[in-house]
Amino acid sequence: MKNIVILISGSGSNMAAIVKAAKQQDWERRYGARVAAVVSNKADAQGLVFAQDHGIATEVLNHKQFDSREAFDAQLAQVVDRYTPTLVVLAGFMRILTPGFVQHFEGRMVNIHPSLLPAFTGLHTHQRAIDAGCKFAGCTVHGVTAELDVGPILDQAAVPVLPGDTADTLAARVLTQEHVIYPRAVAAFLQKH
Ligand code: GRF
Repeated sequence: MKNIVILISGSGSNMAAIVKAAKQQDWERRYGARVAAVVSNKADAQGLVFAQDHGIATEVLNHKQFDSREAFDAQLAQVVDRYTPTLVVLAGFMRILTPGFVQHFEGRMVNIHPSLLPAFTGLHTHQRAIDAGCKFAGCTVHGVTAELDVGPILDQAAVPVLPGDTADTLAARVLTQEHVIYPRAVAAFLQKH
């Protein structure tokens, strides 16, 4: 069985989209794959409830209980490794990962970023797209490498920036596309690996 481990920090709507796609498209039969666990650095992450309701193992590892990023990431890697992942999916996991962690999962870890990379790495992507006068914004699924929000682009979707858009209205439009491309990119990965 190919195990997918999904890391979240908040609402987990991308995680939910992947879990739903796995069920609807029967990834178990098609790819011999399943979402084995959802891991959060926050105990109150809403997505944990969804995962539990769907019979998926959940783990919480509070980064505040560690003295350093390295110590947290070392423990996080151990927790993730328990599920022997074929793929680690970062889905709104709001922690910068150490080079050691990234190296450990290199080639089998993906992230979704709410911009059309390579434009607008980092935070506040929607406001920055509006401020720059972009006519299109979007989202990108990419392989995770040592540099933040850089790494091979696996899938992308664009949406228009409309007159009167705020960061919130644009983010909501982009998010609907995230829910399309993230399951699609994960399925494509599973087919190949
Ligand atoms: C998404 O916009 C994602 O692109 C960004 O964080 C947000 C997570 O949303 N990295 P959710 O937790 O999947 O609902």
